Amino acid sequence: TDALKVGIAGLGTVGASLVRIIHSRANELAITCGRPIEITAVTARDKSRDRGIDLSRAAWFDTAEALAAEADIDVFVELMGGAEGSAARSVEAALQRGLHVVTANKALLAASGVKLARIAEEKSVLLNFEAAVAGGIPVIKALRESLTGNTVSRVYGIMNGTCNYILTRMEKEGLSFADCLAEAQRLGYAEADPSFDIEGNDTAHKLSILTTLAFGTEIAPDEIYLEGISNITIEDIHAAADLGYRIKLLGVAQRTETGIEQRVHPTMVPRDSVIAQVDGVTNAVAVESDILGELLMVGPGAGGDATASAVLGDIADIAKSSPGAQRVPVLGTPAASLAPYRRAQ
Ligand code: HSE
Repeated sequence: TDALKVGIAGLGTVGASLVRIIHSRANELAITCGRPIEITAVTARDKSRDRGIDLSRAAWFDTAEALAAEADIDVFVELMGGAEGSAARSVEAALQRGLHVVTANKALLAASGVKLARIAEEKSVLLNFEAAVAGGIPVIKALRESLTGNTVSRVYGIMNGTCNYILTRMEKEGLSFADCLAEAQRLGYAEADPSFDIEGNDTAHKLSILTTLAFGTEIAPDEIYLEGISNITIEDIHAAADLGYRIKLLGVAQRTETGIEQRVHPTMVPRDSVIAQVDGVTNAVAVESDILGELLMVGPGAGGDATASAVLGDIADIAKSSPGAQRVPVLGTPAASLAPYRRAQ
């Protein structure tokens, strides 16, 4: 079978992780997806930096727009970020050209998701964005596929790893806000402009995407009541603890009798609740719906590998669904390739 040819725009924390994973798991991926996955084109702002990855077999492009327009690829993977500029132009151009697109760009989707979805649907290509919300947690799949037929009443959770990391370390280790933020940046969790994390905009972008999937409405990030964590002090955290609470930055969207409510703000959650126990860069997303009931997913919300894992899942979906490719294997892996069963000792 023909390889799935992938072009990657953006080789920061997530892009570099993705390349490393695709290269190191090439054989397994070819089996799982029914065809090899090959990185045939790349672009990055810094073209000389040593990322410890071998890109000698990929064509280098000067810009994401040039890659989207000219590269010999089936899938355009956008990992640059930013609601406007090169990321926005190249994603739109790739869809118009009839390429499948995978993006982790929540700011772009919050701003232009409906427009991009229309183009993808017109062109009959896939636009996958699992990594855009809550990192490695498969909440997009849950809302798009697993909860089909359910009426969702509420979706909420911890959707920014940087904020949760800061709040956790301030509480548990008494570190200063600034030191925790610097560490989150060093670990590759924070946005290029970290004010998007700590002022709650990043959570709002993600929440607006979930709201649309949950309730079938237009994306409305500007409708979100927004308050970040930059004013939270260690005294606030201790005062909450004295009352039996922990402070978490939550995004909440719910259906009310009159319409949809969306808000992002620091919230006191009871110490014994599951969501209060979610620490560090971990995220949690809860979905309440009529058929299933309450679904709660907890997992890594930021960082290179966690985010790349979700991007890779999106690429694999395309590999499996493209014409000529094998359909989704019934058991996740083609039956002929299942490993022998071994009982735990
Ligand atoms: N800056 C984001 C976070 C990255 O901290 O959650 C993942 O979207």
